[in-house]
Amino acid sequence: MIHVNQEIKQFHLTNGKISYIFHVMKNGQLGHLYMGSALHKEGDYSHFQAYDNPSPYTTHVFEDDPSFSLETVRQEFPVHGKGDFREPASIIVDEQGEFISDYVFQSYEVVDGKPELNGLPAAFGEKGSVQTLKVSLLDLTANVGVDLYYSIFADLPIITRSVKVVNNGEQSVNIERLMSTTFDLPDADYEMLHLSGAWGRERHIRKRNLEQGVQSIGSIRGSSSHHHNPFLVLKRQETTEHHGEAIGVQFVYSGNFLAQAEVDHYETTRISMGIHPTGFQWKLEPEDSFQAPESVISYTKEGLNGLSHSLHDFQRHHLISQKWMERERPVLINNWEATYFNFNEGKLDQFIVEAKELGVELFVLDDGWFGNRNDDTTSLGDWYVDRSKLPNGIGELSKKVKASGLQFGLWFEPEMVSPESELIKKHPEWVVGSAARSNTLGRNQRVLDLANPEVVHYLYEKISAVIEEADLDYIKWDMNRNITEPYAMSLQNQGEFFHRYMLGVYELYERLTSSYPDLLFESCAGGGGRFDLGMMYYAPQAWTSDDTDAVERLKIQYGTSLGYPLSTMGSHVSAVPNHQTLRSTPLRFRGDVAYFGTFGYELDPSQLKQEEKEEIKQQIRFFIKHRSLIQGGHFYRLKSPFIDSETAWMVVSEDRKKALVGWYQPMSMPNPPGNRVLKLKGLDESFHYKVNGQMQLRYGNELMERGLALPVEFNGANHHAQTAGDCQSIIFELRSD
Ligand code: GLA
Repeated sequence: MIHVNQEIKQFHLTNGKISYIFHVMKNGQLGHLYMGSALHKEGDYSHFQAYDNPSPYTTHVFEDDPSFSLETVRQEFPVHGKGDFREPASIIVDEQGEFISDYVFQSYEVVDGKPELNGLPAAFGEKGSVQTLKVSLLDLTANVGVDLYYSIFADLPIITRSVKVVNNGEQSVNIERLMSTTFDLPDADYEMLHLSGAWGRERHIRKRNLEQGVQSIGSIRGSSSHHHNPFLVLKRQETTEHHGEAIGVQFVYSGNFLAQAEVDHYETTRISMGIHPTGFQWKLEPEDSFQAPESVISYTKEGLNGLSHSLHDFQRHHLISQKWMERERPVLINNWEATYFNFNEGKLDQFIVEAKELGVELFVLDDGWFGNRNDDTTSLGDWYVDRSKLPNGIGELSKKVKASGLQFGLWFEPEMVSPESELIKKHPEWVVGSAARSNTLGRNQRVLDLANPEVVHYLYEKISAVIEEADLDYIKWDMNRNITEPYAMSLQNQGEFFHRYMLGVYELYERLTSSYPDLLFESCAGGGGRFDLGMMYYAPQAWTSDDTDAVERLKIQYGTSLGYPLSTMGSHVSAVPNHQTLRSTPLRFRGDVAYFGTFGYELDPSQLKQEEKEEIKQQIRFFIKHRSLIQGGHFYRLKSPFIDSETAWMVVSEDRKKALVGWYQPMSMPNPPGNRVLKLKGLDESFHYKVNGQMQLRYGNELMERGLALPVEFNGANHHAQTAGDCQSIIFELRSD
């Protein structure tokens, strides 16, 4: 899959689905030639590089060749200070303060398989199914090396890319900027899509046209954030969900990031993805190296659904733990919205019995079981059971849960400490913040210094003890504030704090997941504040949003699906009026939305009416029947809540014999059309499908070309109407035997 033409110094990664091509330019730096659908593996593509120097004012590298300008060539690892005035891939400063660099090609190596990235989450793959190219560059003056790693996967239009800096010199250097991916596209005729929002409305799809200048999203909050997701899409104006070109770049990282598209004065577009340079400075002593996180580049001609399919397949086969992809995820019930901090053993005993009767499989005890935590001002860090609430201890509670036939899970917020806690008294030096300044609280709490290996070790020991005592099946790992006053007493160089903090988080995850391989982790950060590939490597599912309002969830889940598969999205039914929006929606509507994810409940079973209990039992049976399809099928977005008054999506099994379609209309429509249809996708044209068990069979091409008939809606007079009022939803089950 990796073709190197030594004569013309061209590197071509292709698997018949994607081509990624770059070469060594005449000044020794790397030039980017092409990223797109597969080209012939043998071709010479040097002519894709434009060497015309269109203006007398452009800088030029060679005295005798004014046409070779770094301002106009398309590059693969651009630097600052040598005549390219766009934003560079790296800025590395020496002890004298000089930051000019010039990385020239030295050597390359092709390996079968995919090397791990030391201390960082990264994609994996069997030998034979993935190949890796390492290209080594060197700045001859500073004696600083850069190794670029590219991996290509046999069956997917995906390239992963990462970079390592090696200091071969005799003095230390400071890395001030290091993008994991940069490449230049030949035009700027794109719309940029990104997933942005806030707490309670995460990952809404935003769109803008690219214009000359820099357009970027990012986070400097210490986590990937609710506000922007480390994922950027460029699409052509004519690209829809179903057709057309799109490029996606994702980041396998959970901390500060920058994702950027820069359009220059010749309409070239530079894509960059990496650790956010704000607040980042990494000191590299002689012989040291620094490994930047991995990025994922994908290309499609098959519209946004096509892009999502490649990303979903990549994550399911090469990033998420394979064990958890194979196992069916349990239907859970979480007590947070049912009780908040106000529970005791008696209340939980009743909760467990009633939950079991509903048919759920896992009981999750959320915040408030430890220390002396009766509100959010205390006890984070004190990870031992609160005997005033649970006098018999967590082990005894777990025994009761398990005896009832349920699995048992607990909430932790490992990275945090409350100002009122035993831990902070014992170890004030473990808290992030500056002794010389006043320090800012977030949700009444402070952040622990996970850049300090002692803290990571302490947390590992404390959490392990609870895992063992309570024989846990599941952990919800929360992270409820952004990081301020980023200063750690454990560090010499504070510019390293944010990244070292993330390395500590990953180290803790790595130790816990290796010691307890059967423990399921769900990541969470005040809902969906850290929904990224870094977390997903350790925690195969994530709490998508604290907002469980089903109308809002249409947007959140639709947006999230652009980059992430259903098997990663925690989606639960909660009580009404909804606690985040005070909106009331029917139980059926809430269930119909929540099926498309890892399903569960956030409510108090004792507050349910008998008919609601019966409906929930049915919902759980329905979900379990379709669970493997939902977890492993291909997801198609059909109608967007950002554009249409209806939302629709569907999931189709690998063999196309089964599908589940969800159609939703939050607001009723007066005087609606009589014969509405929904065009389906991904079916087999020639299969004969049974829809909702009806006798009449429909061919796949009829359902895709003409569409599936939607129910007749009330129009003021037709009292035979099948739907009426707000919050209509229907789930269609399709089956071809
Ligand atoms: C965060 C989570 C919630 C819940 C609370 C508990 O907000 O997103 O689901 O666990 O913390 O304090």
